[in-house]
Amino acid sequence: MNTSVYAARRARVAAQLGPDGIAIIPTAPERPRNRDSDFLFRHDSYFYYLSGFTEPNAWLVITGDGHSTLFCQPKDLEREIWDGFRLGPDAAPAALGVDAALAVGELDTQLPRLLENRDAVWYPFAIHEGLESRVGGWLNQVRMRVRYGALCPEQQRDLCGVLDELRLVKDAHELDVMRRAAQISARAHIRAMQLSARMLREGKDVREYHLDAELLHEFRLGGSQYPAYGSIVAAGANACVLHYRADAAPVRDGELVLIDAGCELDGYASDITRTFPANGRFSGPQRALYDLVLASQDAAVAATKAGARFNDPHDATVKVLAQGLLDVGLLDRNKVGSVDDVIDSRAYFQFYMHRTGHWLGMDVHDCGSYVEPTQVGEVSERRDPLSNELIKNRPSRVLHPGMVLTIEPGLYVRPAEGVPEPFHNIGIRIEDDAIVTATGCELISRGVPVKAEEIEALMRG
Ligand code: GLY
Ligand code: MN
Ligand code: MN
Repeated sequence: MNTSVYAARRARVAAQLGPDGIAIIPTAPERPRNRDSDFLFRHDSYFYYLSGFTEPNAWLVITGDGHSTLFCQPKDLEREIWDGFRLGPDAAPAALGVDAALAVGELDTQLPRLLENRDAVWYPFAIHEGLESRVGGWLNQVRMRVRYGALCPEQQRDLCGVLDELRLVKDAHELDVMRRAAQISARAHIRAMQLSARMLREGKDVREYHLDAELLHEFRLGGSQYPAYGSIVAAGANACVLHYRADAAPVRDGELVLIDAGCELDGYASDITRTFPANGRFSGPQRALYDLVLASQDAAVAATKAGARFNDPHDATVKVLAQGLLDVGLLDRNKVGSVDDVIDSRAYFQFYMHRTGHWLGMDVHDCGSYVEPTQVGEVSERRDPLSNELIKNRPSRVLHPGMVLTIEPGLYVRPAEGVPEPFHNIGIRIEDDAIVTATGCELISRGVPVKAEEIEALMRG
């Protein structure tokens, strides 16, 4: 482990706490699933960002002078026989690069001491259940010593804002891991596509879970710890359910399959969607909509570069989709008017109802403000034409090199009056992961192709 990466991040946090500030960052709790079984433990992303430490039951404390203290599980041979290796406080400073380490059982005695004579205590607000009252208890302990001359912090500050801004722009270490995560996921998508076509050629009963198993196999084969989120493997009409999960539906010859799946590698997510014909050959209507979604993604990719705004790829996507929906007859010009009318009235929303992307990082929907911090005061209001809700528009985030976002346009055609029958139940999304660069963006997920002919080619026998 390269401890200097984490030390540099801790130093950047410390610099923002003020000389007399202190930050407290717990990792995630262990969560019971059912009797005697826990959900697989996954560390807290903020904690990991600052420590690189993946054991449960650990806390990090950073003070404004840059000093860091880890609280972690003590060595315990009996517990290690049952649950596995523990680093322990004696080995932690050398292994992780923290300045000091103590047993987590000492938290309640040490924290009041560490909080004494500080002016502000920082921690992530509204993330860890019970943390606010725990901090309150420690502050109370400090107050009881005020008559002996102790000073009690007067401010509690949310650490999320500081950490979100740091995490939004990825460093070289993070970009390297994210590229590798995306490469593993790309291979998994290819594998699932090929299995679908092969099983259908062999006359087998193909189910969504067969393709899900193929994804998992390739994730683990590549060294990924687990999927970054619940994989979507949606056959046929299921693709029109945005949050569908891989289930047991049959994957039928002639239908499309939408797979939205990405692995998590060493704490970093990938997030890829591909839509492909189950048998390896697009039908005419499928291909028409597929090429439209791809053209809209091309426009979004072209709009993704340093200096552009986060919303620009979405606006570029919507423009292409709006025109395409009129061209293929999913929207009727006589009813909805011109492309500009389709955009203004959000008539496209019937078929495209989500945003074109989100930040990607340790969390699949990663942290970071979508509003440009230098322009938060600039607010305009408008009424949404569909819902009539009042919406506050703030200038969207300016993109900088090292930010990572997804680009994921789609079309979802549910049967409805006026919707041409050949398009019914077609759901398509194409999702790639992009690193913003000075001149454009680097698509790190293109290890799996997106062009219809290339997908057909890799699915042939
Ligand atoms: N897989 C979640 C998303 O695409 O946002
Ligand atoms: Mn996504
Ligand atoms: Mn996705």
